[in-house]
Amino acid sequence: MYIPLSPTIKTLNILKMWRHNDRLPFINDFDKRILLSMGKNAFWYIAKMIRLQIDDEVIVPAYMCYNALQPLMKAGARFRFIDIGIDLKIDFRSLVDLFTNKTKLLILVQYFGMPTDIREIVGFAQSQGVHTVEDCALSYGSIINGRFAGTTADFGLFSLRKFFPIPDGGMLLDNRNNISDIKREGINMGKGLAIVRSMLSNAESKTGVPFVKYLKGSKGELLNDSIVNGEGDFELGISNVSMRILEKQEPWEDICLKRRENYKYMLIGLEENTLFKPLRKTLEDGFCPMTLPLMVDSADSADSIRDKLNQDRVPAYAWPGVSNLHPYVRENIKKYPITQYLVNNLIMLPVHQDLTKRHLDYMIQVLTRDF
Ligand SMILES: Cc1ncc(COP(=O)(O)O)c(C=O)c1O
Repeated sequence: MYIPLSPTIKTLNILKMWRHNDRLPFINDFDKRILLSMGKNAFWYIAKMIRLQIDDEVIVPAYMCYNALQPLMKAGARFRFIDIGIDLKIDFRSLVDLFTNKTKLLILVQYFGMPTDIREIVGFAQSQGVHTVEDCALSYGSIINGRFAGTTADFGLFSLRKFFPIPDGGMLLDNRNNISDIKREGINMGKGLAIVRSMLSNAESKTGVPFVKYLKGSKGELLNDSIVNGEGDFELGISNVSMRILEKQEPWEDICLKRRENYKYMLIGLEENTLFKPLRKTLEDGFCPMTLPLMVDSADSADSIRDKLNQDRVPAYAWPGVSNLHPYVRENIKKYPITQYLVNNLIMLPVHQDLTKRHLDYMIQVLTRDF
């Protein structure tokens, strides 16, 4: 059994590419959007738009991936980190204490498709003249308080390639100002390889033939993000090939429904399991889960449990993983106890739209049999 970690490109996606219709799932609703090669590129444009100066302070949750912060580092930002609660929210009082007259931007991360109410925090930041970005890289198309996550703060950031079978794709929503569109990127060697890898991954999940193994480096080195997207070029727009694939996706509501059904199916399947406890026992209406986050409280580290699951071809993964924490957070992890707990004890399983009952049953079976 081979279970792809994220949605994969099917032959049909490619065949349909040549018919153009210009409708994208859900993201048509926003006129003030720019489509980018990566979600993190949005931070680059935000830094430009707010005229971020060297040494301006950016408040960011400690529970955040380091890679995504690169554009802000390049722009000269100084980070001030804050822990989150187990409810995945920043504590309002602790946040207020972090504000200084150098604070320019506040990043609010909406985790795993399970957004939280950020209205009070955004209101406060605005009253202090601080810009806000709702980072929905992990929360595409989830609804909170009757509106899409990503539309409450000054800016919304999305990573489309986590939710759709595309080789690249990110989006910036500018909820307050007007921004002009940017150039689109053509196909290059890296993207071509990413497409091949994704299609092979799809073929393997259907036939069981281990195509992915044959693609040397498919686990990382050969096809890492910098090759697919161009190292350090934070101005890149989305590629035409990704646009074309996006245009042919089924309606967002259908994709979201499938992810929700998969999530609930896994919850029921793991109900009796005493080791893996869902971070959220219920899935609120309007939420579109990115994954199923599970907490493991065990003498064995989550790392070793994840490795064992991977050996059994269950694509369990960590987010963001110790190595992908900001070095300051990593070295001072005791200051951020919930971040530490989540980094050490959280395991994620895919629930994306390509998965069938067969895949879900297999994951449930392995988790139940081996632990
Ligand atoms: C919270 C968060 N923000 C931003 C990003 C950047 O998205 P991308 O990988 O599309 O650049 C990521 C990527 O994983 C992320 O997890």
